[in-house]
Amino acid sequence: MRNLAIGDIHAPCQHPGYLAFCRDLYEDYGCDSVTFIGDVCDWHAISFHAAHPDAPGPSDEFELAHQEIEHWAKAFPVAKVCIGNHDERIVRLAETVNIPSRFIRDYKETWGTPGWDWSHEHIKDDVYYFHGTGNGGQYPAYNAMKKMLMSTVMGHIHTASGVKWAANPQRRIFGMDTGCGIDDKAYAFAYGKHMKARSILSAGVILDGIPFPHVMPCGPGEKYHRSNYKVEETPKRSTFIPKSVVQIVQESKSRKAKPHVGKAQKSKVPARPVCPDRGTRGAARAPVRGPCN
Ligand SMILES: [Fe+2]
Repeated sequence: MRNLAIGDIHAPCQHPGYLAFCRDLYEDYGCDSVTFIGDVCDWHAISFHAAHPDAPGPSDEFELAHQEIEHWAKAFPVAKVCIGNHDERIVRLAETVNIPSRFIRDYKETWGTPGWDWSHEHIKDDVYYFHGTGNGGQYPAYNAMKKMLMSTVMGHIHTASGVKWAANPQRRIFGMDTGCGIDDKAYAFAYGKHMKARSILSAGVILDGIPFPHVMPCGPGEKYHRSNYKVEETPKRSTFIPKSVVQIVQESKSRKAKPHVGKAQKSKVPARPVCPDRGTRGAARAPVRGPCN
C-alpha cells in the first residue's frame, strides 16, 4: 500500500498551498490510499476557550470549512479520516448539555464526504494511525509508538514532524509525526503569535509500512509560498454572511407571522434605531443606546 498521511488541516484555517502540496505528493509517489490524521475542521467558534473577536461565528465557520473540505474531498474522494479533538468539539459541546449521541449528525453527512471513513483509529500495513489526542512530548509519535508497541503515525502536535525509529533483535518500528497544514496567520492561531516554536507544514508517505516524511517548501520564493496562491481575506464576524444563511433568514422572515401586538402596546413599542455603519448581524447583537452608540 502506498499511503499518503495528511496532517491537521483545521479548515477553514489551512495554509493556501497545503492542498497542492499533498496532491503533488500523492502523484509523485503514485499513492493508492489516503489518511487524514484529523482536525479536519477547526471549530474555533465553539471552542471551550474564548473565540477571537474577529472570527466568524459557528454558522459562518461551518460554511467556510465546508467549502474548503469540498476541495479536499474532490482531490481525495476516498480516504480514511482519524477523528481529531477539534472534529469532536460539536460532540463534546452536546455532551455538556446532555444531548444524546443519536441526535448528532454523522461526520460523513455533516461534511458531505461519502467516501471518507471517519474513525478514531485506522491500521494499514501494520501501521497504527490516530490523531494523537492526549499524546505529546518531544517526540509525540515515538512516545505513542512505545505505548502501542507498533509503528505509529499521528498529528495533533503541530510543531512536531518527522520519524524516529526503535529496534530490537526481533522488530524495527517507527513513530512518525505528520506535522500539519495550518496557516499560523489565521485568526484561530492568533494565540500562538508570540511563540517561537512554529507549526511545521508537512505530510508523510508510507510505502508498504516504510515512512517518508516531507516538509512543505513554503518560505519566500519556494514552490508553495502563500504568494503563489490567490487567498481571499478570511471574512470576519461583522461583515460575512454566507448566502445560504441570508436565504435562510429571508425565508424565515417571510414565513414568520407578525407578532401579535395590541393597540395599547403598539404605541409603547419604540422603533429600534439601527446604525448604518454596523452590519445587520452586529446591530442585532449590540446594545442599542442611540442611533450610532
Ligand atoms: Fe490540530
